[in-house]
Amino acid sequence: MSQAAATGAPRVLATTTGTHARILGIGAYRPRRLVPNSEVVDAIDSSDEWIQQRSGIRTRRFAEPDESVQMMSVAAAREALAHARIDARQIDAVVVATVSHLMQTPAIAPAIATELGCEEPAAFDISAACAGFSHGVTLAADMVRGGSARHVLVIGVERLTDILDATDRGTAFIFADGAGAAVVGPSEVPAIGPVVWGSDGEQFDLIRQREDWRDVMASPTPITPHLTMQGAAVFRWASFTMAKIGLQALDRAGITVDDLDCFVPHQANMRITDAMARAMKLPDSVRIARDVADQGNTSAASVPLALARLYEDGDARSGDVALLIAFGAGLAYAAQVVVLP
Ligand code: COA
Repeated sequence: MSQAAATGAPRVLATTTGTHARILGIGAYRPRRLVPNSEVVDAIDSSDEWIQQRSGIRTRRFAEPDESVQMMSVAAAREALAHARIDARQIDAVVVATVSHLMQTPAIAPAIATELGCEEPAAFDISAACAGFSHGVTLAADMVRGGSARHVLVIGVERLTDILDATDRGTAFIFADGAGAAVVGPSEVPAIGPVVWGSDGEQFDLIRQREDWRDVMASPTPITPHLTMQGAAVFRWASFTMAKIGLQALDRAGITVDDLDCFVPHQANMRITDAMARAMKLPDSVRIARDVADQGNTSAASVPLALARLYEDGDARSGDVALLIAFGAGLAYAAQVVVLP
């Protein structure tokens, strides 16, 4: 037995920092090709009017062949690093939230980190679908506070068109492609509030890959696994449950809706955003992200893309207090209050 064990002293040293965490920079990459409703309606026997009325979506962006998960991630990350004034070599960890990196292993994060010029950071992917970016920010804040990394790059990226069935009336007009990123680093004051997160596996089937890989491999004829969604049930869950989660995140951060400058919900559907804003009784002064109208639902990329759009439109400023809330397949959700960089 070692002397430390014999005396009851700790046998390993713990990391402690005493520091807080904040988002230092935000970046976005929107694919070049703008796709209006008129381009998707024929395959699903729909109309521009129906899509706008039910979802608020007018256009979305679909990635072209060169706009890969890696390419879009690197572009968004470079913008976030520049905004944060952090060199890639200062990044200690890269966390990539995605469900559309179509290789079971390895994760895409190490390849992205290497292309960015990071120096052997921890790099891994997480799978929490549309809630992925907010899960990544939560992990990053805890890593910075806990001392396992000083600067963390969080990326939310999707090329959902690779797994979309263009003839599926419930998904083809909703989902789209893009990437968003944030650099999380140390702060002298708290600037990322406590997370409220969770999951409900009872509703595992509501949004899912239709055929699992075993079905694909066993099929005598080639099949491509596609994303499928029970839209009405997801709509009910998101509209009624997520407002409560948002209010809990405000409460845990010690603020009320009156202290809020911006509301950045996952860009699932304009009607869900409106229902949440009503249920939370957000004052008119709160600027609400409505990026879904032009961007569609980009899953893990939607919150950082929506946040970037608020900056581009002059609706977000450094020092603003924003509520981020993301939710989707799992079902999984995460919400936190942040001070904007
Ligand atoms: N175009 C035109 N008509 C459509 C359609 C489409 N793409 N999809 C369904 N319809 C029709 C149905 O046939 C049905 O017609 P009927 O009343 O004559 O039978 C009617 O519209 C209602 O169908 P329903 O499936 O109940 O639609 P809905 O009102 O639930 O709207 C969504 C569908 C997908 C827009 C809605 O459920 C939704 O937004 N869900 C949330 C999705 C979401 O945001 N997911 C992201 C979470 S991460």
